[in-house]
Amino acid sequence: MKRSWWKESIVYQIYPRSFNDTSGNGLGDINGIIEKLEYIKSLGVDIIWLNPIYDSPDNDNGYDISDYKRISEDFGGNKVFDELIEKIHSHGLKLIMDLVANHSSDQHSWFKEAKKSKLNPFHDYYIWKDGKINEHPNNWESVFGGSAWKWNKETEEFFLHLYTKNQPDLNWENPRVRKEIYSIIDFWLSKGVDGFRMDVISLISKKLDFENVPKEISFKDVMEKFYANGPRVHEFLKEMNREVLSKYDIVTVGEGPGINLEKGLSYVDENEKELNMVFHFDHLTIDFGPKGKYDPIPIDFIRFKKIFSQWDFLLADKGWNSIFLGNHDFSRIVSRFGNDNKYRVESSKLLVTLLMTLRGTPYIYQGDEIGMTNISYPSIDYYDDVETINAWKEAELNGENMSEFLRSVHLQSRDNARSPMQWNLNKNSGFTNGKPWIPVNDNYKIINVSSQLKDSNSTLNYYKEIIALRKTNSTLIYGEYKDLKPDHPQFFIYKRWDENHNFLIIHNFSEKLLKWENVSIMDYNLIFSNYKIEKNQIEIRPWETRVYKLKNY
Ligand code: NOJ
Repeated sequence: MKRSWWKESIVYQIYPRSFNDTSGNGLGDINGIIEKLEYIKSLGVDIIWLNPIYDSPDNDNGYDISDYKRISEDFGGNKVFDELIEKIHSHGLKLIMDLVANHSSDQHSWFKEAKKSKLNPFHDYYIWKDGKINEHPNNWESVFGGSAWKWNKETEEFFLHLYTKNQPDLNWENPRVRKEIYSIIDFWLSKGVDGFRMDVISLISKKLDFENVPKEISFKDVMEKFYANGPRVHEFLKEMNREVLSKYDIVTVGEGPGINLEKGLSYVDENEKELNMVFHFDHLTIDFGPKGKYDPIPIDFIRFKKIFSQWDFLLADKGWNSIFLGNHDFSRIVSRFGNDNKYRVESSKLLVTLLMTLRGTPYIYQGDEIGMTNISYPSIDYYDDVETINAWKEAELNGENMSEFLRSVHLQSRDNARSPMQWNLNKNSGFTNGKPWIPVNDNYKIINVSSQLKDSNSTLNYYKEIIALRKTNSTLIYGEYKDLKPDHPQFFIYKRWDENHNFLIIHNFSEKLLKWENVSIMDYNLIFSNYKIEKNQIEIRPWETRVYKLKNY
């Protein structure tokens, strides 16, 4: 296994609009990030990933970009951004930006031109199909609901949008489009940016027959078989790597809807020179029911563990994994995979122990380091997220029971992860002096950075300690992995080892008191736990996690 700085790094993801507002407009900003760099550094992480902060009409919170080379004035503009890069580097940290290259905003000058006429030089920057206003080119649906095609009256054609109708898909078949994207990448890398998280990169090559999707298949299958992994995706990624990425010492992680075990390695195989890592969603879609995300089902824990083992095995020799449990698109990790009630602190600590002891680069999402939880806004009017609102409208049209649907929204809405960062006990949790763009979770009075800094047993201090443990034990980074109890319904027990050390990690993913007697614990030194442990205590308490190291190895 080749060693690299980005394999040994830990990423901290910032959702800028919800991080820290210094201007008082209710929206986080770049100066707010600068103000918190000491805090971020003190966690022990290495890389900051920022969600999009470019010019955007914000139909999808920045994932609809209207100018790829300009930082939105809402966040502080290009000059403050230059200062951010410099300060990040002077703190010994690195910065990765979001690259949203599958689609632009419909307010991008390319699209404004493209829609004017079929002869416009920018027309072919997007994906068009002839048709009649009521006869859509095929039955494809947008990820956010409704048809994936929108009628453009000027040219009497439809354009494709796999996300909102304000996010037209770019036509990667057109070499000029690809050149534009590479020039954008080069623009930011030459400023000193250290890499990119590439939004829905698995979707850039379209299957040009635009075949209808069979009615009976699941959305997961639609993604895997129709939208993602198109015929030229690897050719495009290799070209991107050759033309621009390979000229810098950077890191790339591709967001990969539709990337499954069959396709995973092809994107990150070190010999193929495409991407360093991908985010797959096998574990993050595990509670999607027959009708999708807003029809949640209980998590199948055995399957959850199996997904980690299968991906570890897949990428063990030739690729590298990204290890994450949540981000700005999913609910809070402690509410989803832990227990955000009685065992909030214990389970938050367990989950970060999982992240820090698996093979791959770990990603921490802002606020998880203090155990921030989901938020239950009282009605749909409080929600901002386009995905949530569209799903709500669709449920209403389908005549669903809306109070039940609100419960699903409480569990699954992306706004769960987007409520403002909880810094202290001041008004609006110290996030803003103004009116926050989305309401703060009331539990900031209990869960906030400032109180946790003062408490040596806090989730925040535990994060720092387990991060340090990982950073100082390369066995936890590069070592082999084996699940020792794949069929156990509550335990996740695995070992990590190399020629130098052998670790045994035990997590109790339940509220039960469990015994595990298969290994003589006497052979091991306990080096880390989220509970105080009496000598040789065999019983593993609710949401307890332990890291052991073999004595004579
Ligand atoms: C994935 C991003 O993470 C999400 O927030 C966004 O809505 C879609 N891609 C579309 O860009």
